[in-house]
Amino acid sequence: MSPPADAGTTQRLLPGRPVPEDLDAHLAGFGPRPILEPAAMIEALDQSGLRGRGGADFPTGVKWRAVTERSQGGGDAVVVANAAECEPASFKDRFLLTYRPHLVLDGLEHAAEAVGARRVIIYTTRSHNDIEAALRAAIRERRRRDDSDRFVEVLVGPNRYVAGEETALIARVSGHLAKPKVVPPRPFQSGVDGLPTLVQNVETLAHAALVARFGAAWFRSVGTQRSPGTALLTVSGAVRTPGVLEATCDTTVGAVVDRAGGVEGEPAAVLLGGYFGRWVSADRIWNHAIDADSLRSTGASLGTGVLVVAPTTSCGITETDRVLAYLAGQSAGQCGPCHVGLPAIAETFHKVATGRARPAALDLLARWSRDVRGRGACRHPDGAMLFLDSAMEVFAADLRRHLKQGECRYAAQPSLLPVPAIEAGWW
Ligand SMILES: Cc1cc2nc3c(=O)[nH]c(=O)nc-3n(C[C@H](O)[C@H](O)[C@H](O)COP(=O)(O)O)c2cc1C
Ligand code: SF4
Repeated sequence: MSPPADAGTTQRLLPGRPVPEDLDAHLAGFGPRPILEPAAMIEALDQSGLRGRGGADFPTGVKWRAVTERSQGGGDAVVVANAAECEPASFKDRFLLTYRPHLVLDGLEHAAEAVGARRVIIYTTRSHNDIEAALRAAIRERRRRDDSDRFVEVLVGPNRYVAGEETALIARVSGHLAKPKVVPPRPFQSGVDGLPTLVQNVETLAHAALVARFGAAWFRSVGTQRSPGTALLTVSGAVRTPGVLEATCDTTVGAVVDRAGGVEGEPAAVLLGGYFGRWVSADRIWNHAIDADSLRSTGASLGTGVLVVAPTTSCGITETDRVLAYLAGQSAGQCGPCHVGLPAIAETFHKVATGRARPAALDLLARWSRDVRGRGACRHPDGAMLFLDSAMEVFAADLRRHLKQGECRYAAQPSLLPVPAIEAGWW
């Protein structure tokens, strides 16, 4: 089957019309899922250059091979589709699962066949009820047609920022609290119930399903050498039509914003990659493509595909202040520098933002930021400090003004960056 008419360029994962696709429509558009030998599937992934879309940008083929080598095709591996989407400014995984659940489920089947897994799980979070229902319906639809004995389980964890991290997710699936663990062992060595485990973001799985159908060369026919294919982006802030869109990785930030209806007002800065990402001034980032090489020179990365435009009429300090408090509250409380350090940093930043800190507070923040990095079991402190450092750099003049004069006139503007209520418990 050749690729659907709209699948050649930028619209590969998302359907032309925003209507949830049932199994009939999925098969009519894509044809039946091909069956590939594990080695051929993994080779196709290697050739395609597909990298994970859950934030870490890791080569997908390398991961599948590592699990396959451990399980030796014996069926005792586990595959977990990560649909946690705990990043508050991201909506792309839920969007994909709402409109194209069967493409993700195809990718999951390919992964299970390639790594030799009988146990296959989709992990989502309690606050994404609608997604849980849509997934269960799509799985039921497939079971009615399919004689495979592989049953896809849906598992629900807490809506906490770090609960989507792969070791936290594995802990939850194995019956423990959804808190990150020290690595090694990495999931491919010892994951769910100690078995070799592949954890893959749902968008990555959907791309893998297309690579299986249309091949590595087709996948590479758009995008860049380093970042081939398309990516789902959640675009929000000062844009006229916020939402999820799909773009090739050679698209510039400015062109992405144009596709989201253009800027509302004058852009000051862009947050790229989510709350573990970086603020970059708008004039610096506007003409950069969203591919990893192009973004590297600005210190940014695409991360989870979040792109938030902050206009000159917003307050980057107040936005950062709220997100830092949220991230501090999301610590799993297991590592001192994270559990104690992040709240102290968030509190000090809040004092600066509201004009209640001494001038030395800025140096203190810079020092503490260095001190907590690399000192957690997971990347939570590192990610949070990347976000803080970028704010201190991009909004340096505003920060000094806040320190002297307190909140500015834009502090009371409606917030650009969503901050969910902190959920109690880790189960
Ligand atoms: C604190 C933290 C939270 C994370 N949350 C998510 C998440 O909600 N969804 C996700 O797919 N990956 C998340 N990740 C990344 C996962 O640990 C893992 O790398 C990813 O699911 C692997 O899939 P990929 O290779 O397809 O990106 C998170 C990582 C960290 C450090
Ligand atoms: S670094 Fe923080 S979030 Fe990560 S495991 Fe340690 S305490 Fe938990």
